[in-house]
Amino acid sequence: MMKTLKWKNTTSIGDILSEWIKACTLEQVKEGQLFGFIHEDKKLLIANLKGKIHATDLICTHADADLSTGFLSEEGVRCP
Ligand code: FES
Repeated sequence: MMKTLKWKNTTSIGDILSEWIKACTLEQVKEGQLFGFIHEDKKLLIANLKGKIHATDLICTHADADLSTGFLSEEGVRCP
């Protein structure tokens, strides 16, 4: 059985999602991987760092880089 990761929280913009949505399955964001997705107008990134799931904005504010194509390390996500 696949475990489904759902998203409910705030974006850095501060918008609160009023309901849980399906973001991806755990199979799509294995340990050490990044997964980007768009829900309505929100671009979000999920990271699996040592089995712990984190979420943030998909787009880097510096130069609009898609962070799902970046690199994940213990220091965080680095732009591609
Ligand atoms: S695109 Fe420059 S730091 Fe992310």
